[in-house]
Amino acid sequence: MQYNFDEVIQRKNTQSSKWDNVGARVGNPDALPMWVADMDFRCPKPVVDAVRKRAEHEIYGYSYIAPEFRSSTISWIEKRHGWQLSPEWIVFSTGVVPVLNTMIQTFTEPGDEVIIQRPVYYPFINAVVDNHRVVSSNSLLYSGGTYSIDFEDLEKRAASPKAKIMILCNPHNPVGRVFTEDELSRMAEICLKNNVIMVSDEIHSDLIYTGHKHIPIASLSERFAENTVTCFAPSKTFNTAGLRSSGIVVPNQTIRKALEKQFARNRSLQQNIFGLPAYVAAYTECEDYLEQLLLYLENNVKYLDGFLKEHMPKIKLIKPEATFLMWLDCKELGLDNAGLADFLINKALVAVDRGDWFGPEGSGFARMNIACPRITLRQGLEQIEREYKKL
Ligand SMILES: Cc1ncc(COP(=O)(O)O)c(C=O)c1O
Repeated sequence: MQYNFDEVIQRKNTQSSKWDNVGARVGNPDALPMWVADMDFRCPKPVVDAVRKRAEHEIYGYSYIAPEFRSSTISWIEKRHGWQLSPEWIVFSTGVVPVLNTMIQTFTEPGDEVIIQRPVYYPFINAVVDNHRVVSSNSLLYSGGTYSIDFEDLEKRAASPKAKIMILCNPHNPVGRVFTEDELSRMAEICLKNNVIMVSDEIHSDLIYTGHKHIPIASLSERFAENTVTCFAPSKTFNTAGLRSSGIVVPNQTIRKALEKQFARNRSLQQNIFGLPAYVAAYTECEDYLEQLLLYLENNVKYLDGFLKEHMPKIKLIKPEATFLMWLDCKELGLDNAGLADFLINKALVAVDRGDWFGPEGSGFARMNIACPRITLRQGLEQIEREYKKL
């Protein structure tokens, strides 16, 4: 089936966080929403059909994790990432962020350290801080417009007796890195050696650009798999974040049982009746959507990059290897964080995620979501350009 990602679909007044809660979350209700990570594109037809079919049944009682949850996860991960999963490894969760919090609650004590790599998706920081644990940031190195891992620093942090978990973001939100086999192996080895459990958030792993390949860190060896909790979901890929369904892969039985027990303690396993039909349809019938989406997004990246180079050369795009979240280096504008937010959000009226939300390493940056029709992207960029000229 052919999808039309150029179509502009009105999302206002649909209880959309991105469109209707932009004032509360980003600070200006009139700003064009290019922030939170969902897409302004219609979901794939099989997903819509599955939800519609379920809705038409007209009884929305309690649901359960039907076997198709596991079989569809197995087939997708095998097909896209070449990793063969066993059905018993796969745990349902109502999202990836709940897993991060639950893992911290299960395997660390207050005061323990959790390693993350800032600048990073801010719920990682919240998951640590809100649970009264300590952020140990193995901050990414930024040089020549690209990001890399500071392995020497990671060795030291992992060796701390208080370090119990590392939360990896691969592909990395917001810097857009797809970590290489060598990088992944080194990180996994360091964690293993120091008894640090690896929690690998791979929610963006389907959205990989030409020339890059996603490798699930746990797929590299059985030893790594035994020390890793991998978080997958169709939610970014197929725009189903509101249906709250993700697949968590935990080969290690001890870790899995402990995670499940903590989930049960919180009574947080109960899923939405529409979640599973959509999940199964997404993972079994929608590869054509993904192929077309990737092409469209890749062209949006090109458009954005070209626009910046031509009209706003002081704003630099960090070349994304994955994700529809663009990390923009705005430091040459010479504004502090409040000034940059005011420039983008209040003056240009474009609602981006502020770079400093991702940690102090994000100062001077902004994250822009380009999963929108090109005409919307163009509108946002022209609004910024108008203000850029006045600087
Ligand atoms: C890296 C990463 N993890 C998790 C999530 C969201 O997780 P969920 O909505 O499944 O809780 C996002 C959404 O932007 C994300 O970028």
